[in-house]
Amino acid sequence: MPTRTNNAAPGLVQCPVCQARHSPVKGELTDGVYAADCQNCGHFFKFRAQGPVRSTFSMTVNGQSYTVDNSYPGSTSLNEFLREKGISPGTKVMCIEGGCGVCVVSATIMDPVTSKPRTYTVNSCCVPLLQCDGWDITTIEGLGNTRDGINPIQQRLADYNGTQCGFCSPGQVMSMYSLLKTNAKPTMEEVEEIMDDVVCRCTGYRSILDAMKSFSADAGPDLPGGLIDIEDLERKMCKKTGNPCTGKCSSDQSKTMLHMVTAGSQWLKPTNKQELCTLLNQHKADNYRLLHGNTGFGVYKDIGDWNYSVLIDLRGVVDFNVIQQGGTTLNLGANLTITNLLEYFRTKVAASNDRLTSFYSNIALHLEKIGTTSIRNLGTWAGNLMLKHKHPEFISDIYVIFEAMKTLLVIVDSTGKEMNYDIADFLKLDMTGKVITMAIIPVVTDANINIRSFKSMPRHQNAQAYVAAGFNMEVDASKNYLVGGNPVLAYAGISKTFTRATLTENYLSGKQLGDPNVLKGALTTLSSELVTDTVTSLSPGSYRQNVAISFFYKFVLDICSQIVNPRYLSGCTDLVRPLSSGKQVYDTDPSEYPVSKPMIKQNAVIQTCGEAEFINDTPPQINEVYAALVISTVGNADIDVIDPSPALAIPGVLKFISAKDIPAGGVNNCYPASASAAPEELFCSGKVTFAGQPLGLIVAEDQITADSAAEMVKVTYKNVLPPILTIDDAIRNNSFFTPITGLSAGDADGAIAKSAHQLTGQVSCTEQYHYHLETQISICYPTEDGMNILAGAQWINAVQRAVGQVLNVPASSITVEVKRIGGAFGAKITRNCPVSTACALAAHILKRPVRLMVNIHTNMKSLGKRMPCFARYTVGFTDAGLLNGVKIDYYNDFGMTCNDIASVVRMPGWLDNAYYCANWKMTPYLCKTNKPPNTACRSPGSTAAIFIMETIMEHVAKSLNKDQLDVRKLNLYQQGQKTPSGMVLEYCGIRSMVTQLETSAQIASRKQQIAMYNAANRWKKRGISFMPLKFALNWKGSQYNTLININNGDGSIAIFHGGVNLGQGINIKVAQTCAYELGVPMDIISVKKNSTMTNCNSHTTAGSVTSELCCLSVIECCKMLKERMAPIKAKMVNPTWKDLVIKSYNEGVDITARYVTEPENVSQYARYNEYGVCCSEVELDVLTGEHQILRVDILYDAGKSLNPDIDIGQAEGGFVMGVGRFLTERVIYDSTTGENLTSNTWEYHPPMPKDIPIDFRVEFLKNSNNVKGVLGSKSVGEAPVPMSISAFLAVKHAIEEARKEISKDVYFTLYGPATVDTVQLNCLTDITNLTYGN
Ligand SMILES: Cc1cc2nc3c(=O)[nH]c(=O)nc-3n(C[C@H](O)[C@H](O)[C@H](O)COP(=O)(O)OP(=O)(O)OC[C@H]3O[C@@H](n4cnc5c(N)ncnc54)[C@H](O)[C@@H]3O)c2cc1C
Ligand code: FES
Ligand code: FES
Repeated sequence: MPTRTNNAAPGLVQCPVCQARHSPVKGELTDGVYAADCQNCGHFFKFRAQGPVRSTFSMTVNGQSYTVDNSYPGSTSLNEFLREKGISPGTKVMCIEGGCGVCVVSATIMDPVTSKPRTYTVNSCCVPLLQCDGWDITTIEGLGNTRDGINPIQQRLADYNGTQCGFCSPGQVMSMYSLLKTNAKPTMEEVEEIMDDVVCRCTGYRSILDAMKSFSADAGPDLPGGLIDIEDLERKMCKKTGNPCTGKCSSDQSKTMLHMVTAGSQWLKPTNKQELCTLLNQHKADNYRLLHGNTGFGVYKDIGDWNYSVLIDLRGVVDFNVIQQGGTTLNLGANLTITNLLEYFRTKVAASNDRLTSFYSNIALHLEKIGTTSIRNLGTWAGNLMLKHKHPEFISDIYVIFEAMKTLLVIVDSTGKEMNYDIADFLKLDMTGKVITMAIIPVVTDANINIRSFKSMPRHQNAQAYVAAGFNMEVDASKNYLVGGNPVLAYAGISKTFTRATLTENYLSGKQLGDPNVLKGALTTLSSELVTDTVTSLSPGSYRQNVAISFFYKFVLDICSQIVNPRYLSGCTDLVRPLSSGKQVYDTDPSEYPVSKPMIKQNAVIQTCGEAEFINDTPPQINEVYAALVISTVGNADIDVIDPSPALAIPGVLKFISAKDIPAGGVNNCYPASASAAPEELFCSGKVTFAGQPLGLIVAEDQITADSAAEMVKVTYKNVLPPILTIDDAIRNNSFFTPITGLSAGDADGAIAKSAHQLTGQVSCTEQYHYHLETQISICYPTEDGMNILAGAQWINAVQRAVGQVLNVPASSITVEVKRIGGAFGAKITRNCPVSTACALAAHILKRPVRLMVNIHTNMKSLGKRMPCFARYTVGFTDAGLLNGVKIDYYNDFGMTCNDIASVVRMPGWLDNAYYCANWKMTPYLCKTNKPPNTACRSPGSTAAIFIMETIMEHVAKSLNKDQLDVRKLNLYQQGQKTPSGMVLEYCGIRSMVTQLETSAQIASRKQQIAMYNAANRWKKRGISFMPLKFALNWKGSQYNTLININNGDGSIAIFHGGVNLGQGINIKVAQTCAYELGVPMDIISVKKNSTMTNCNSHTTAGSVTSELCCLSVIECCKMLKERMAPIKAKMVNPTWKDLVIKSYNEGVDITARYVTEPENVSQYARYNEYGVCCSEVELDVLTGEHQILRVDILYDAGKSLNPDIDIGQAEGGFVMGVGRFLTERVIYDSTTGENLTSNTWEYHPPMPKDIPIDFRVEFLKNSNNVKGVLGSKSVGEAPVPMSISAFLAVKHAIEEARKEISKDVYFTLYGPATVDTVQLNCLTDITNLTYGN
């Protein structure tokens, strides 16, 4: 979280009387003369700025001009301006570090290369408002709206069902808009390339990509929509001309310097190098900072604008805009952005096929991997290098690329003196009072020069490298690959100080690389000098060393390709991702429409237009204040002292609230009390049990002040003990909660003992952060009789109860409401309670409205996640692999309390997955660790359970050396068999589904192709995995209270159901059901927000059941209404609905109905089962551990889907969330303090669009019906998550293929998540394997 502690050095303004130096206070600036009172003695004095200056500027937003003056501090971001002024509530905010993309807007600014205006996406959270001098900004509101007409992009994203919760949707639209503004006929590849700005946790991206690709020149008929006229893009009208805005009025290249003197700092925007040098001279002793894109503060908060008293914006310095290729050098001005560089290199590649510039395409590919499109649009290469200069541990891609190109930097000092430095010298140079002006890159004239750079990443887009490398080597192939000149082996990511492998460079010089011993010697030398540290990266040093060596080996294979065994040439290349595509197959039943009709959500369009109001978009009320949680930084200690005074000293901070402030009679327990729930302290009363534990709350006049002040509260601890952080630690320390019973069927021990084969094994998977884009939020409004709360909660009844008990007021005096949530995935079932109770306490004490929007870092640190799980198993089976007995001890890591236990209680219902066995013993262990209370996360319990069972099946098959699919098929359930919990499977079609997918996905022929591929390639391996799924779905305890009101004037219908709209499509399904039951058109039905007033005591929206149960309650309400109206209808002849309603009402019929579901409890495990089959194929780069999912086929039994559009979206989104859980997302804790080290968008990696399957096919089983469901449907929200285990296992199979090459293909445990580093280490590649293969 950016912290606005104003460290601005005193000294900008010196009072001529008392000599006190202080930051200039707010005052008038006319023609560069600033007038103010001295803060010390009150003397009125004037301060003259250098040269002619401007003190205000104008910018346009959606065609409306705004004048910005010095009333905004330099730290105000464009995002704050847009949101707080109410200009663009559709522009969202989440991470404030450039990492999530929900804040992106379009900016038409000067392109330094062409000197013409050009439209770019930019992260409005990173752009300082004062930088927007002359900018022309377009936000989602400028594109279109539901009143005046919507933009084709907004329409198409909705039509393609590209929205679920909708929080990311405006950002997705803005990314595409910016592309179309510059390129009206993009190719599908170009579209896919730029859709890397915005994280979407809900959809799995396929639908978003399809929607955007439909605008491409090469889109096929399967992506309808077509190209659009550029005119249709523009809805915002110019206020001057009344015509569509062209964005050409403004210019951010003024000829006059801008000089703004604000309350905390000065903002200067020189227009040329001379002015800049003068300013450097004037301010070099001050606390100044240069900036261009300002994206650097997304990485390092210490360069946040608020830390400086002088900010010098380099955007106006036209001298830095050069790009010129002369005879011997390519000169790149310091103001060129990474996008400028990327485009330059791409253009050069397209223009020539020259050997001498062939490395440009590799450089362009590397540049594409830096950040996101919007970061590259503003971020400069010079700013990137300066981050490396200031923070040597920064894994800079630009650094390695520029080193590889033997770049010289031109640096000018405050006197105007220019000097050239090589990069090594630059890194050591004192840059005070200096600025980088240009890079000079020697043009390659010798065909023997080889240049290449590399990057390995935790996911395919928007991620810092694990390791980046850049190499330059002159090699004469005719002399057995003689290495000449001065080779360069540059690295980032090894250690804070390691930049060049100089020992290896020296070793190589003058040697013949064609000699295998030279290669061996180089690898040995390199391996000895690559000493990794733990400061630079959170990934294991052993991986970083391996991959650094692999990069060099790849480089050498490429150079020496003529003498390399062709199988080994697969080591030269990086993974190549072709254009992705998706296919969705389902049937519908028009006779039942609108039920079963594929339809987009009613509010899809308002989501894509940015009109869908999320809680934080609610305009502030009079007197509203903002809160931020103060959290602990250690995980196992006693509090010594909490001293809020440094925070309270910050202007705008109102109060610190702690456990002591809970009113008399109230309890310090934010968990809704029940017989089975242990109390969870709202604020720590003394004993800290996890790092991130809330200790109190700061309340301030604005959010950023509250967040900054919360970090200033000084807390000291005593009796600090090592935290228990893993299941292993918990087992070692015997740290468990009271056991619960598991499940036994038959005699597992006996059956195992008698089996021909027995094996034991273990497996585990760590936690997953929900990554809901709307972080936890609550706004509390004290009322005359209690409190109204807007809570981003899946279970508002729990919030109501928890607030009542903390404040010691009747729960009925608390009204909790929620209209929609920006993603939840289980995180907001009980975990909103700590947030809403804290907020309510503050509102109660201050008697003012209080808003608590938890920043991402606190959200990730203080709130529980998906539970890590570990299992030990013993299995007995026959020669053929038929299971006789299975024993599983499974351990779940609950963190500090075990209240959210329901899914673990139900794990035995999933542990068998789709396999029959007569004898089971399943024993749960509930581990207590020093972590936040873990909670449900999409498919809780089930994902871990099925992962354990699928691991067992793999192990059995491997131990018998049999095909995994054959062993799985042998054990599949048959109709009529009994599950361990005693459920007889009356409707089990898993066997035929397996056969169907085996055929449709051409498993047999693909296995052959994979085998051929693996035989032909030493360093790339493919793996395929096929898994069945039985997913027990339980309705137990699911009370949902639904109210239907029919209006007596026009017959229109309002539904208030007990579920919460999380983006899962609950409202459209409920409306479809109502329309079907009452036989009315959809457009007379509206679905209202959920409130404890209308839907009191409703259960949580979770477990995949809420949509169907709310539909069930709608059916029951409709039955009542129809019954009541039937006698009236009988007296009428073919009445219209409206007439029937009016007549019924006039005759005294109650046209309001209410129903609460209380489904019968068939079993605590399952009411019915969902079935699925999934096949995943992956490709692995053995040398780097990077992998990509080539193809996924899912066959899923959705029963009679109520709405296939919605359900396909759920299936795809669930699968991709599972891909994150098993392949890319990892939480890392500080082993000493217990603090979450991955609590930001930089270190935590949910999938991006290029992480999804390249070929993604989802089919719903045809002619299916679920007699135990609602209208024949089955739920879809959760079951697809565990199907992603197939992708994990396919990676494992690819690793096995790599191990075969070194004769190490024995069974091994792959622990989840299989992140890139884990995978590479599991391939067991050794430097002795890195040969030419001859
Ligand atoms: C979400 C995100 C993802 C990213 N991903 C990657 C990645 O994958 N790989 C990677 O290498 N980087 C990555 N970055 C870093 C990014 O490339 C840099 O933030 C960017 O290049 C900095 O350029 P800027 O113009 O925004 O610099 P600013 O933020 O404006 O400035 C950064 C620093 O450079 C100084 N500075 C700027 N220009 C000059 C100059 N001409 N002379 C002297 N000092 C100067 C400033 O004073 C400041 O100290 C990422 C950043 C973000 C936010
Ligand atoms: S809020 Fe700007 S990128 Fe996340
Ligand atoms: S729809 Fe993209 S984050 Fe929810």
